[in-house]
Amino acid sequence: MGNKKTYYITTPIYYPSDKLHIGHSYTTVAADAAARFKRQQGYDVMFLTGTDEHGQKIQRKAEEKGITPKQFVDEVVADIRELWKLLDISNDIFIRTTDKQHEEVVQKIFKKLYDQGDIYKSEYEGWYCTPCESFWTERQLVDRKCPDCGREVELTKEESYFFKLSKYQDRLIQYIEDNPDFIQPQSRQNEMLNNFLRPGLDDLCVSRTSFKWGVPVTFDEKHVVYVWIDALSNYISALGYLSEDDSNFKKYWPADVHLVGKEIVRFHTIIWPIMLMALDLPLPKQVFGHGWLILEGGKMSKSKGNVVDPVILAEKYGVDPIRYFLLREVPFGSDGVYSEEALVNRLNADLANDLGNLLSRTVTMVEKYFDGVLPVSEDVLEPVDQDLRKLAGDLPKKAEDLMDKLLFSNALAEIFKVIGRANKYIDETMPWALAKDESKKGRLGTVLYNLTETLRYAAVLLTPFMPNTPAKIFAQLGIVDEKYTTLESLESFGTLPAGIKLKRGDIIFPRVEFEKEAALEEIAPKAEVKKAEQKEESKPEITIDDFAKIDFRVAKVISCEKVEKADKLLKLQLEVGDEIRQVVSGIAKTYKPEDLVGKYVVVVANLKPVKLRGIESKGMILAASNGELLSIVAPIAEMPSGSEVR
Ligand code: MSP
Repeated sequence: MGNKKTYYITTPIYYPSDKLHIGHSYTTVAADAAARFKRQQGYDVMFLTGTDEHGQKIQRKAEEKGITPKQFVDEVVADIRELWKLLDISNDIFIRTTDKQHEEVVQKIFKKLYDQGDIYKSEYEGWYCTPCESFWTERQLVDRKCPDCGREVELTKEESYFFKLSKYQDRLIQYIEDNPDFIQPQSRQNEMLNNFLRPGLDDLCVSRTSFKWGVPVTFDEKHVVYVWIDALSNYISALGYLSEDDSNFKKYWPADVHLVGKEIVRFHTIIWPIMLMALDLPLPKQVFGHGWLILEGGKMSKSKGNVVDPVILAEKYGVDPIRYFLLREVPFGSDGVYSEEALVNRLNADLANDLGNLLSRTVTMVEKYFDGVLPVSEDVLEPVDQDLRKLAGDLPKKAEDLMDKLLFSNALAEIFKVIGRANKYIDETMPWALAKDESKKGRLGTVLYNLTETLRYAAVLLTPFMPNTPAKIFAQLGIVDEKYTTLESLESFGTLPAGIKLKRGDIIFPRVEFEKEAALEEIAPKAEVKKAEQKEESKPEITIDDFAKIDFRVAKVISCEKVEKADKLLKLQLEVGDEIRQVVSGIAKTYKPEDLVGKYVVVVANLKPVKLRGIESKGMILAASNGELLSIVAPIAEMPSGSEVR
């Protein structure tokens, strides 16, 4: 037990200068998924996050509000902690750079580097970007603005301490060349080597005198420590480095991975490793620089007014869907565009449709055909069974390999490939047909067992990404023994014992509406005008094969009602053969619901489902139209519902 392998992962510590937006949540959710995955694998995990509370930017914000910097940060930090709680972030330590213990460690580090001659006193003259808390030389500026954020820089001239980065430059280049995994993805490594290290490093200004909100230099109190030296030290101060109890430091350092956004890779792969070299400490095994979540108009930022509030999103769509979206939508490392519409699409397509339906179809069938008791899988397997079992059985290894490389999106894609395969397996094996034949009961059991076991695999592997969903799936699958919810239990497909009792529960992911859909009614009239304009134009000729693609069916209207606040729409339940389906039709101006119940109509049965006013419509009722005039098309003589129309 004591010899468990350790895994130390960190997020950047956040500036509490503003409320956090969904872009910030991105790093933390990713680190959380990685930490949870490692815990599942049996590692002794240390997951650190926190806040970076000093610096000129914070001091100015507090001044604007007429409060002390500490009062200012206390308020924002409380919100940040709440946000991480809301998003189910499982950090082991939350460090604040205003913690006394951290401040003392920073002071000790600064003094040590000064004593050994790596920090020396001089005068700084150059440019400073306050929002980024970065120093720039004249030649690094772009159009006389900050090369990172494009904002105004200030000319700064003050007595300062400097850190001899140049002394360690060659050693660092060598280290990076010898350790190709140190900076990931690879492109960021090239950028650091070619743009910063090889052209040569200037010594770094590491103290300021023009403001007070920072860690004072113990031997020269008018100086405060440069905020990045202060901030980067958190990764070891949080573990007790140079403190009374340094057991965590001994146990977890060096870090396995510092997860950071791409704009701060430079600090983490140049300043930080040189600090560690100077302190004679081992370097972190990896710094992974992920991309940005971008809104139209560029990276989300308060100053651009394009931030998205994660609290509102989580309340609207739920925590697990937000986490899923963040990790699935964008390959980790690349930039990705955020939009609420994309989030809703993912939620509906992957979670409500693929995963949600697989669960409800499976549980419903086990209840219907086996009274909810999980049947045994027969020994004789058909190729479709083997195919599904192999795909699911290979999944844990694939997911582990991808997660080890922090390829969250790819890992999720693999899990959903199996979920998709299982849905297809239902269509291929047609359990409802097997159920009609008593002699096929054994086969039916095999099919339902395979589906249930596949769902268990998916749920276990989804745990790090969506911490709340697996419990809901296990509850419906009747899995109460925790030993079937571990990664270890996925060693061989077929471990789940038959005989457990499945029970249908609530829909785990109800479909959601994207607000723009509510506007469809407004769009619809325009579409009609367009149609009317095109009416005179003859349509292109089609072949009989084109025509045969459309599945026209006779349908009987079972019930019908008006759609609220939509004066043209009726919602109908239609019987089409064995099936009852819902169709929304724009015929309310001509037909009243009571005119239609019991009548026969013709529907296009294989039309792709759409949502009108948020209501699902599966098919289209045919009607002749001439301007405002409408007349539903129906067979002259009564025909059974489901009859083909050709
Ligand atoms: N305080 C420094 C980090 C010091 S670490 C020793 C800092 N803080 S921050 O609050 O500005 O950013 C924290 C993290 O959030 C960074 O990794 C940053 O890249 C990330 N993100 C901020 N906006 C983002 C997006 N729009 N998209 C993705 N990540 C983003 O930097």
